[in-house]
Amino acid sequence: MLRLGVNVDHVATVRQARRIDIPDPVEAALLAEKGGADGITIHLREDRRHIQERDVELLRERVRSKVNLEMAVTPEMVRLAGRFRPDDACFVPERREELTTEGGLDVIAHKDKIREAVKQLQNRGIRVNLFIDPERDQIEMSREVGAHGVELHTGCYCNALANQAEELEKVASAASLAQRLGLEVHGGHGLNCENVLPIARLPEMVELNIGHSIVARAIMVGMEQSVREMKALLTKARQGK
Ligand code: PXP
Repeated sequence: MLRLGVNVDHVATVRQARRIDIPDPVEAALLAEKGGADGITIHLREDRRHIQERDVELLRERVRSKVNLEMAVTPEMVRLAGRFRPDDACFVPERREELTTEGGLDVIAHKDKIREAVKQLQNRGIRVNLFIDPERDQIEMSREVGAHGVELHTGCYCNALANQAEELEKVASAASLAQRLGLEVHGGHGLNCENVLPIARLPEMVELNIGHSIVARAIMVGMEQSVREMKALLTKARQGK
């Protein structure tokens, strides 16, 4: 089975635009589960631009499938993850100025720090995956630092125009190497209904994490109903009800 992890960060992005309590990422997560999500993914960023600590706490209590916490490899986040105890953690690189996670983690450059953080979380019973570019050296080092699995960055494949087949091949051979080394293989970033099939067909893939395209589609699918409800209220007001 191929699991679908639904990333609800951007429900919180819309909420934070007004700093009030709707739309609620927890409510979105429960609806995602109703729709068949096999897990809920969130990224607690250093600048707290979307998901807040309170969201993680509530999701931990209410999500029945599993919670996957994406996080930077910092002492603060390792401490918080130890407190929240998500089922899974995924270490990602994080830069304040980026719009979204832009590249994979450089496991080779930060191997000592990552090895230590992996150990700390795994001692707390959390499975740790590393979000990396589909490259041989990064996969080999992910195994060496003791990760449970890797999430292969599919962004280059998704953004590719002329060379999409080549980018797909990179993800495919990375997936096959990672599995041979005993790592669980996940994928994510930039996936949508138009580009997901070739990635979903890779036999080694166990889980895909998809956020932006699902939230974007949810807004469009729900827009008609939302306007209809408001319009009905306005009409009712003028009918003296
Ligand atoms: N996986 C990781 C590690 C990510 O950082 C993100 C973006 O938060 C995703 C998956 C989901 O990407 P998208 O929102 O483009 O579907």
